[in-house]
Amino acid sequence: MAEELSTRDAKLIQYLNEAYGKEKELETALQAHIKMAKRPPYKKRLQEHLKETKAQSKGLERRIKALGGKAERSPVPVPGPAGGAATAVTAVATKTLAAAKGPIHAARGTGEAEKQLKNAKDELWNEYEEIGNYTAIETLAESLNDAETAKLAREYRKQEERMAAFLLKLIPTLTKAVVTEEVPAAERRAARAASAPARGRSTPTARGAGASRAAASRSAGTAASASSGASRGSGTASRASGGTSRASAGTSRSSGTAAPASGTARASRARASRSSPS
Ligand SMILES: [Fe+2]
Repeated sequence: MAEELSTRDAKLIQYLNEAYGKEKELETALQAHIKMAKRPPYKKRLQEHLKETKAQSKGLERRIKALGGKAERSPVPVPGPAGGAATAVTAVATKTLAAAKGPIHAARGTGEAEKQLKNAKDELWNEYEEIGNYTAIETLAESLNDAETAKLAREYRKQEERMAAFLLKLIPTLTKAVVTEEVPAAERRAARAASAPARGRSTPTARGAGASRAAASRSAGTAASASSGASRGSGTASRASGGTSRASAGTSRSSGTAAPASGTARASRARASRSSPS
């Protein structure tokens, strides 16, 4: 069957299969994370995204079949005598790896709060990989005049972006829970006192400035990873620009709602977001 495919269709099938493999891997990871999630809104969002992920797998499978291919959990179905064996080995390895991640994730972190945070960070990393996958598929399909594949990729990219935005809002909350759970209150107070200027400032102002710096530094890292995530999948200059601005918008949204910090902290983060490298 592979020999009958045009180069165009084989390339579309290859990219769709890469996305398909990732979706199947995440079905397993999400199921493990749902079991571990403690906060009801977080658990509910993961459950919703698992449904989306399963629907994405099915949609990709249908599109791959329509193009004359076969949905496989391997990165690339390689034509030729060695292709079948290589594909089978990779598929088994991917499945085993995904299944092994559940217990690994259950054991991670120094405490319960940190386990939740590490899972959320892991999910965010995966969302950006998927955003990259779908941005690339959308561009490839548009370049090859495959409107149906482009539409599917666009729809799925938006779903991943919504999940990434949710996680960006959640991560500061989960991080604060780690502080509460792991750092004694007296040490938190001591650190704030040490960072305050010796004279001329009241404690609340010093606390605000400290929070602002920490938030700005966190935001700079987020913006950089968001930008690199968006540009990884970018095929053209105009798409890179759109992708980056989408990622920045997600970051700003997160800054506005996620951080129960001061206006100063938000302004600081916005500055860091603008000035961070892309
Ligand atoms: Fe997905």
